[in-house]
Amino acid sequence: MAHGLRKGLTSYGDAGFSLFLRRAFIKAMGFTDDALDRPIVGITDTASDFNPCHGNVPDLIAAAKRGVMLAGGLPMAFPTISIHESFAYPTSMFLRNLMALDTEEMIRAQPMDSVLLIGGCDKTLPAQMMGAASADVPAIVLPTGPMLVGHYKGEVLGACTDCRRLWAQHRAGTLDAAEMDTISGRLAPTKGTCMVMGTASTIACMTEAIGLALPGAGTAPATHADRVRLAEASGAAAVRLAREGTTPRDILTPAAFRNALTVLQAIGGSTNALIHFTAIAGRLGIDIDLDAFDRLGREVPVLLDLKPTGSHYMEHFHWAGGVPRLLAELAPRLDTSQRSIAGGTLADIIAGAEMVPGQDVIRGRDAPIHVGGGLAVLHGSLAPGGALLKRSAATPRLLQHEGRAVVFDGLADLAARIDDPTLEVAADDVLVLRNAGPKGAPGMPEAGYLPIPRKLAEAGVKDMVRLSDARMSGTAFGTIVLHAMPEAAIGGPLGLVETGDRIRLDAEARRIDLLVPPEEMARRRALWTPPPPPEGGGRGYLRLFLEQVLQADQGCDFAFCRPGR
Ligand code: FES
Repeated sequence: MAHGLRKGLTSYGDAGFSLFLRRAFIKAMGFTDDALDRPIVGITDTASDFNPCHGNVPDLIAAAKRGVMLAGGLPMAFPTISIHESFAYPTSMFLRNLMALDTEEMIRAQPMDSVLLIGGCDKTLPAQMMGAASADVPAIVLPTGPMLVGHYKGEVLGACTDCRRLWAQHRAGTLDAAEMDTISGRLAPTKGTCMVMGTASTIACMTEAIGLALPGAGTAPATHADRVRLAEASGAAAVRLAREGTTPRDILTPAAFRNALTVLQAIGGSTNALIHFTAIAGRLGIDIDLDAFDRLGREVPVLLDLKPTGSHYMEHFHWAGGVPRLLAELAPRLDTSQRSIAGGTLADIIAGAEMVPGQDVIRGRDAPIHVGGGLAVLHGSLAPGGALLKRSAATPRLLQHEGRAVVFDGLADLAARIDDPTLEVAADDVLVLRNAGPKGAPGMPEAGYLPIPRKLAEAGVKDMVRLSDARMSGTAFGTIVLHAMPEAAIGGPLGLVETGDRIRLDAEARRIDLLVPPEEMARRRALWTPPPPPEGGGRGYLRLFLEQVLQADQGCDFAFCRPGR
């Protein structure tokens, strides 16, 4: 098999000429023949002025290049698209699969013997791993790392659990606009990803646990020297992987996915991680069984005291020993024979874990934060295909609840009516949002964290049962049932709920049910019509998305990107 510059020659019908031309052009950048005979490590550049979570990428690329060269390789950085949560319309999830396609095809199209994937903001690492899994070139992941914490009036703050908590206080009238203005400058004080156990941190920690990133890569702060040293070490590891030929397929086994999902439960991680790792697994023909994941949740306790489930932040997790220390605590539940791109197995990483005396971020198995894991899979008449509840971030008294449905027909309806003073709503009602799934919104936005109606927020209500076919940010908290499948826009039962119906949530029994007789449901189904398609869906990427996107239980990947189609 061809390596380095000889790999994937451009099709001119004359291989010798293709290589001659390629060498001529690359020499235009001043490379010598010696440099061009080295293993080539591609390094993804995902920085952009729209992406503060990737603001340290130029520094990481410089360090990674140093690592590649010290190990005898030739580094070649190349751009892919950059996606930031708050700068992507209509939602970053709409663009994740585009980034996966971009990454896969650029890895495949350009001559590289291995690739270092640098990403971090929520959708980027999943997209990169989906692309790398399909391209199956040796790959290593370097997250950009979490921000440092912020401070306001003696309180420690973090994006974006505290963004939501303080915004809720503002809606309730207890924080004024001037204070919010000051706070907006304190919540995200450095470059890097959100420093709570949101989606970015969850994915970074799971990536370390599954063996695609070096020990420490999931947690080291974005702005610390540790992160830069990790970049250098990742560059060197990428050269070793190129020489060995170890590909993602060698690392991403069914047992490795089970390890990563065990970690997801133990860190009280983001609900989004289940979708993303399902998509990555799907690229390799591996199915993630929702019921098996729920069983894992009943067995694996939450051991991490970190927001939004607990009280600490990512930098505290790092200094407490990070993922290796957590893996040591989880070892009896893991397959520690699984390989890591670090060179050994999970058992080797656990053996090297730093045991920090007196730390209180990573709990022992005998003193968990929550006895059951973070996430529960529900079924029932409202979610025959399954739904997800982050139990560890819910209000315990609401986990068994029956209430009256208050239905919003989509995002525009929600925005128009949620704060209407005439809205008939009470604290024990169940807020329902539909047509916010993969096809319905489109892109399954993070709208499942429905705001508490203003008049209830002002009366001191902090949580209500909320149900939708949307996702929610990993940084959010509350008694929130998400990903109801099938989504309303393709005929799921959420589309048949009417305001005034009774809904019962029984988290212990893993049920979410609509208490409406079957004959009435049949009548409503006969009258149901799908919502109008989104504007502009007749062409381009939106058309591709609407035609190809799968439901959450298949990772919201594109159907044509899964193997064997
Ligand atoms: Fe980028 Fe939170 S917005 S990680």
